[in-house]
Amino acid sequence: MTDRIVLAYSGGLDTSVAIGWIAEATGAEVIAVAVDVGQGGESLETVRQRALDCGAVEAYVADARDEFAEQYCMPTLRANGLYMDAYPLVSAISRPVISKHLVAAAQQFGATTVAHGCTGKGNDQVRFEVSIQTLGPELKCIAPVRDLALTRDKAIDYATAHDLPIETTKKNPFSIDQNVWGRAVETGFLEDIWNGPTKDVYDYTDDPAFAPAPDVVTITFDQGVPVALDGETVTALQAIEQLNRRAGAQGVGRIDIVEDRLVGIKSREVYEAPGAMAMIAAHRELENITLEREQARFKKTVDQRWTELVYDGQWFSPLKANLDAFIDETQKYVSGEIRLELHAGRATVLGRRSETSLYDFNLATYDTGDTFDQSSARGFIDIYGLSAKTASQREERLHGKPDLSGAGVQK
Ligand code: ARG
Repeated sequence: MTDRIVLAYSGGLDTSVAIGWIAEATGAEVIAVAVDVGQGGESLETVRQRALDCGAVEAYVADARDEFAEQYCMPTLRANGLYMDAYPLVSAISRPVISKHLVAAAQQFGATTVAHGCTGKGNDQVRFEVSIQTLGPELKCIAPVRDLALTRDKAIDYATAHDLPIETTKKNPFSIDQNVWGRAVETGFLEDIWNGPTKDVYDYTDDPAFAPAPDVVTITFDQGVPVALDGETVTALQAIEQLNRRAGAQGVGRIDIVEDRLVGIKSREVYEAPGAMAMIAAHRELENITLEREQARFKKTVDQRWTELVYDGQWFSPLKANLDAFIDETQKYVSGEIRLELHAGRATVLGRRSETSLYDFNLATYDTGDTFDQSSARGFIDIYGLSAKTASQREERLHGKPDLSGAGVQK
């Protein structure tokens, strides 16, 4: 039987050419698999037909938008997933769900190999191949751009020579990856890190400098995930889509960083994730009122480690699963409402309300109703400060009084 290869198909030039390119280079039949994670653009049927027109023996399209929103974006929200404190893991979380569909298709169509369109310089090749190896250890991976010398120029020549139904002239200077959680833009003039992003870099967000009137939204969370916006029940996907529109109109969620890739390269990236950034701001604040202090401190460390694992392509790893279990347990009481003002590039929390809050007005108040026994603070401070005080007394015994120079009245 002829060998079969499943190709992660986007519908764009590179993967359209890859269909014939892989077939010629390997003698295998190519099955194109397109996974919709809310990247927008053409219909799945158009993409499917193009794959067949480009020579795929089978083409399979999957609408994974709800699955992606519920099982990939929501865990990222619960982990407040921001790589290098800034990047909400947009591409990093789409690779595992796409990989899952690729492996399922490979098993369904009896393929031995999975192919993807990544270069050899980025994180995405690692995320695809580590996920694929984990979910389908029997499968091999190839990347035509990396392994079969499929360069951009060759792709254009090939598409023209074979009259493939794909645009070869449209020259986008950027490399873009987008899904419902956000949009990543790199290359072109952004590679000079002194250059600021120009207006044409952005698509999910409007210019925050010309923002419309403030938009106030109330997000209702149940155990760390949004379940209603302004009182209207929403699915995870609807919550992200609606907040992308509303926060995007205010220019919320633009990010411009030089990022540390797993492969050791520092790269300039511009992201837009209006819904994700608005939701993370709200979720964090809800955690502030519902998580106990030590739990919240420790969760920050767990969140960061979780984020690094996910960025590094370890979505399906045992440690990631262990950290998920911890994070899930912490979300038990992360329920309630956050009132958020979206305006001019910012998502600002205005109000919080929760049945499971640990905020106690009577403990916090300086007005009547105070139930906190202030007299117990003295003894607490004496003991709490005792070890530092003892060490300081030793210092004074051996080396004299503490140096207070620079403080006090200058003579
Ligand atoms: N650097 C980001 C990441 O590794 C985004 C990569 C997205 N790819 C792209 N073609 N812009 O997650």
